[in-house]
Amino acid sequence: EKGTYPHYMLKEIDEQPFVIRRIIQKYQDDNGELTVDEAIVKEVLNADRLYIVACGTSYHAGLVGKQLIESWAKIPVEVHIASEFSYNMPLLSEKPLFLFISQSGETADSRAVLVQTNKLGHKAITITNVPGSTLSREADYTLLLHAGPEIAVASTKAYTAQIAVLAILAAAAAKAKGLELDFDLTKELAIIANVMEMLCDAKEEMENIASDYLTLTRNCFFIGRAVDYYVCLEGALKLKEISYIQAEGFAGGELKHGTIALIENGTPVIALATQEHVNLSIRGNVKEVVARGANPCVISMRGLESDGDRFIIPAVHPDLTPLVSVVPLQLIAYYAALHRGCDVDKPRNLAKSVTVE
Ligand code: M6R
Repeated sequence: EKGTYPHYMLKEIDEQPFVIRRIIQKYQDDNGELTVDEAIVKEVLNADRLYIVACGTSYHAGLVGKQLIESWAKIPVEVHIASEFSYNMPLLSEKPLFLFISQSGETADSRAVLVQTNKLGHKAITITNVPGSTLSREADYTLLLHAGPEIAVASTKAYTAQIAVLAILAAAAAKAKGLELDFDLTKELAIIANVMEMLCDAKEEMENIASDYLTLTRNCFFIGRAVDYYVCLEGALKLKEISYIQAEGFAGGELKHGTIALIENGTPVIALATQEHVNLSIRGNVKEVVARGANPCVISMRGLESDGDRFIIPAVHPDLTPLVSVVPLQLIAYYAALHRGCDVDKPRNLAKSVTVE
């Protein structure tokens, strides 16, 4: 039930801090440490490469997961769009392990790949919000998101839950390999839940950003580097699917290789700046678009902020920034759709789960 909320989407955005706290509880072992089933850790350590397969928002969470698993557990990961994978299968490594990410667990494109990988005899883990769903039943192992039912077509809390569970999996694999992390994941996730709450309290600021930048525009660009780029893909998808504004997520450095031709006077460019090692370069990219007339909206992380940034997110662990930087983008998309009179929870042409290939 959406209770006093005008839309499920807004309710589900607000639920994110609680979902992260629930995930902490559900994945804590007897010593209070975050981990996954031993059998799953074993499969991960046995594999020479992980293949993440997913669609839409779940694919975007997979991109962040790749980053976490590679940098923490030092295991190579490929991320594939399910509908491409089934018709154009990449050359697989000798000991592949498949990771299907699906909120609903019913997405036909992802299931088609699982049917193929099962036939080939490869092991699979499904990360899903729905126990007993098709993808959960047909994979060898399941990791649950514990996000509670997600009703709005635009996925929000499932995305952050997917990233949190992928982080726990990455940390568990790292530990099993003897690669101790130099921070406490439980503590970092608890901080993230608190920061998410602050961001959910910043609705008025996000609504103002939506009115200032998106009320009349026909397009919008999201730019970021490193993991911010992946969050930009998600921010753009959110905006497109519910507000019908043509939106594109771009790697900051790639715009000048063609797409910058689309920047006109007043074109909104939302830039994320949460990563220290690319902060100077993304700032440079913002200058490039501003020089062509763009209207920039920089959302940065505390400690990396510059004069003129529109919004500053309290600092969290640098590897986990997507869990918080996506929240302003979700809210901006929500208010943009609302102001443009769109049906936020049930956008045109879309269904909550896509059960056809
Ligand atoms: O249930 P799934 O996670 O498998 O769904 C995948 C996509 O269809 C889904 O994430 C879609 O992109 C959302 N509407 C995005 O908000």
